[in-house]
Amino acid sequence: MNYTVVLPAAGSGKRMKANKNKLLLELFDKPIFLYTLEVFQQDPACEAIWLAVKEEERQIIDQYVTKYKITKVHGYADGGMERQDSVRACLEAIPPCGVVLVHDAARPFISQDVITRLVETAKACGAAIAAVPVKDTIKKADNGIITETVDRNALWMVQTPQAFTYDLILKAAKAAVEDGFLGTDEAMLVERLNHPVQIVESTYENVKMTTPEDLIYGKAILESQIQEGQR
Ligand code: CTP
Ligand code: MG
Repeated sequence: MNYTVVLPAAGSGKRMKANKNKLLLELFDKPIFLYTLEVFQQDPACEAIWLAVKEEERQIIDQYVTKYKITKVHGYADGGMERQDSVRACLEAIPPCGVVLVHDAARPFISQDVITRLVETAKACGAAIAAVPVKDTIKKADNGIITETVDRNALWMVQTPQAFTYDLILKAAKAAVEDGFLGTDEAMLVERLNHPVQIVESTYENVKMTTPEDLIYGKAILESQIQEGQR
């Protein structure tokens, strides 16, 4: 099943404290976002890549896209104030298609297997998201005093990619903007339309490069993926 991927890449990377968009930071020999792009460039089922970028970064990003022969990049949309705005700009720019995958450009270690399962599940159910079981014991607290130990079996740490049929995610994105609703992921926009969202179990390697120590972990993951012939 073919799909189009939308990659929000227009953030500021404030928590990375690098004084620039963290996606331009290098892991070994190239910027973070190129590792993400290469996964989709190499997936035969990926038909088109669309990126949301800041206007002032479009040129530098496009230069890398050309240099590394990411030929599946079909276009760019202008990033917005919030991640949700950046994703919506892309969704409004892409031609209608079957399944749309939304994936943070800041998650370069996504596995091909998870992508394939997400696309198949979205095709069957309309909406599917990558997630991993919570590893730690989670407690609720009030003023620092434990009020409850939450049942871990019901908890999932949600990641991207999140996959949807084109009509559903476009409808959900439009409804959110009309209602002034700001979600932290795309699934929330679909959940509020009372459409079921299916979890697809992902890997713990699919971390988002968010804070400086993530770069240390990221380099280790890359080394292991290279050793295992995945890159
Ligand atoms: N993103 C975007 N547009 C925004 C904000 C974020 O396209 N207005 C993108 C980021 O570039 C990233 C992804 O959404 O690929 C996930 O966001 P996050 O990890 O929060 O990145 P930043 O917003 O850049 O980082 P921070 O929140 O620390 O500033
Ligand atoms: Mg952010």
